[in-house]
Amino acid sequence: MSLQERIEELQTRVQQMQASSAEEVEALRIKYLSKKGEVSGLFDEFRALSKEQKAQFGQAMNRLRQTAEERMAQLRQTVEQTVAKAEVREDLTRTPDPIALGTRHPLSLVREQIIDIFSRIGFTVADGPEIEDDRHVFGLLNFAPEHPARDMQDTFFVEKEEGEQRPTDVLLRTHTSSVQTRVMLEAAEWLRNGQQDSIRVLCPGRVYRNEAISARAHCFFHQVEGLYIARKVSYADLRQTLLYFAKEMFGDKTQIRLRPSYFPFTEPSAEMDISCHICGGKGCGFCKQTGWVEILGCGMVDPNVLEACGIDSKEFSGYAFGLGIERITNLKYRVKDLRLFSENDIRFLNQFVSC
Ligand code: PHE
Repeated sequence: MSLQERIEELQTRVQQMQASSAEEVEALRIKYLSKKGEVSGLFDEFRALSKEQKAQFGQAMNRLRQTAEERMAQLRQTVEQTVAKAEVREDLTRTPDPIALGTRHPLSLVREQIIDIFSRIGFTVADGPEIEDDRHVFGLLNFAPEHPARDMQDTFFVEKEEGEQRPTDVLLRTHTSSVQTRVMLEAAEWLRNGQQDSIRVLCPGRVYRNEAISARAHCFFHQVEGLYIARKVSYADLRQTLLYFAKEMFGDKTQIRLRPSYFPFTEPSAEMDISCHICGGKGCGFCKQTGWVEILGCGMVDPNVLEACGIDSKEFSGYAFGLGIERITNLKYRVKDLRLFSENDIRFLNQFVSC
């Protein structure tokens, strides 16, 4: 084989070098580029050539060496990368990437805490529709026909489309007392025939009122209402239940105060204050120096309501209460602006990791 042919043959082989490990790369280096390697050997011969011949083969020789070195560097890099990848996959001691955990919405946290407190004394949860009719929201609850709550100013009515066949009084519920009427209607027969001796439910949910949105009011908010009906339920039962709730929710030192009030569906009716848990009742800016903050409405279920739902008011009595989850959350976490609850601002929401 002429020198030309040998250079070309070696050039082809060098170009096609393959290796899958560092050892194989090293073996190739020894075979071709070490002092006794094939490429170096050819250079030894080259050095012995005449000036003319050197000029003739010089370029090809240089190209051969360059190709060999480049291919070698390429193989070394690929092998290193594969090894690095394999190591990453196999390193079980490596600290794992942190998993980004979401947080609970403060209203959900507080709703669940309220449900938990009442479920410990036998309350179960009842659900009902947000789109309701006049009967369940007002009619059965002893609202007079001309009561202002039935006004467009306070209640969102669902507009009827042209030609739509349905009653006109479809509305967004303004309180979850509507769920209570549904529960009473359903249980009336069982109470009558003795299949059931009491009703004890919590009705959590979203309610809607036609109010301008501001820091202190919103067109929707969340409630938990409670209803207990049985034989011989007294005002003392109501008071004791609410005292238990206030202590569980705001701490053992919490005191309650019931002020006379009015609701169409309860008689007598009251509003409940708790001793301000920020100043301990001494008076501060939060409780407007009174030492008390209002947290809920309550009362004994009006006999008219029981009768309207088919429950004998001579045999059964009951109490009801209703609280705003936003209100309780504001008290617990001192959130000053109601709008924060529905803006989905991550900086706000991330602050509520647990209750
Ligand atoms: N339904 C009343 C409201 O939405 C709250 C309430 C419930 C008051 C039960 C008394 C008894 O404001």
